[in-house]
Amino acid sequence: MLALQAPACRILGSDLYAALLTAAADDVRGEGPAWAVLERHATRDTNTALALRFMAAVHRLVLQGDAPALAPHFASVGGTAGVDGAWLAMRSLLVQQRDRLGELVARLCQTNEVARCAGLVVGFLLAARDSGLPLRVLEIGASAGLNLRWDRFHYSNHGDDRAWGDPGSPVQLHGHWDVPRGLLGQQVRVVARAGCDPQPVEPLSDEGRLSLMAAVWADQPARHERLRGALELARNEPVHVAKAGAMQWLPQRLAKTAPGVATVVVHSVVAQYMEPGERQEFFALIEDAGQAATAHAPLYWLRMEPESPLRAMSLRLTSWPGATDELLATAGAHGFPVRWRGTR
Ligand SMILES: C[S@@+](CC[C@H](N)C(=O)[O-])C[C@H]1O[C@@H](n2cnc3c(N)ncnc32)[C@H](O)[C@@H]1O
Repeated sequence: MLALQAPACRILGSDLYAALLTAAADDVRGEGPAWAVLERHATRDTNTALALRFMAAVHRLVLQGDAPALAPHFASVGGTAGVDGAWLAMRSLLVQQRDRLGELVARLCQTNEVARCAGLVVGFLLAARDSGLPLRVLEIGASAGLNLRWDRFHYSNHGDDRAWGDPGSPVQLHGHWDVPRGLLGQQVRVVARAGCDPQPVEPLSDEGRLSLMAAVWADQPARHERLRGALELARNEPVHVAKAGAMQWLPQRLAKTAPGVATVVVHSVVAQYMEPGERQEFFALIEDAGQAATAHAPLYWLRMEPESPLRAMSLRLTSWPGATDELLATAGAHGFPVRWRGTR
């Protein structure tokens, strides 16, 4: 698992995690201290994110100030020493904190990737433009609910002047953002926003903030900055994320049409975590609700889900009435780059 995750971390821009996971994989083969921490968690199930849970456990100790020798290598706490020597420091930590780390690895690696909104915003803007109505946003698998405030963020393109949103926002999503200029003047009013998640994270609690930060790779300061900005917004504008799976929460919200608003059901990187039966029921529920949609109560299904082993994601929008399904864009696993694939 560690050896599989290492190149993925490198491709996604974390040389530090790639190096540490490569060294830890060797250490596991030699039954060293990494194995002593991980033995009880050993699995062949690649959907368990074991390697990322392992790194989140280590990162948590660094963020808590309990790993002083490793901290100089972790940019998330101001470290500048880089990769050289990081494994030796981490190996010592694995020896000293074996039992504590063993317990921490059992926790879910619960992320909330704010930059995924750089793709999702395009679908929201299209829903607002096509319907001419204010939006009711219902997010499935919302985690800490940070992305439900997508309309409070600022989006801009690396390379030209394309931008949307509040330039003064604490969340600046700046990157390769190849989206149609025609959408950038679009006004949006969100009149209701809510989400569900079987394991919601409380963004206003110390524990919630720590677990979100621990899950973001330590040498990716831009991701940390976006997370900090989204946590700041969360303090000022609470959003409710119900502790529930999709099929416990969504049916009653779609049971009646909502005249005068465009309902957008949205999810990113969630479908793979649903049980196959629940996933089928969830898709069928949306299709059924779509049949009842009208021009005064339209329904949009906006989703960003990985479609290839390298985790490039597809952003799709289905609109009712009419059941028009479009591939809007592709996006990177952590949000950028966003590449427009739509036809309008
Ligand atoms: C990889 S995280 C993505 C979180 C967030 N959507 C984002 O893009 O940052 C997957 C989320 O799906 C949630 N999840 C798992 N099973 C679910 C289900 N049956 N219904 C709704 N959410 C679920 C998990 O708890 C987790 O928060």
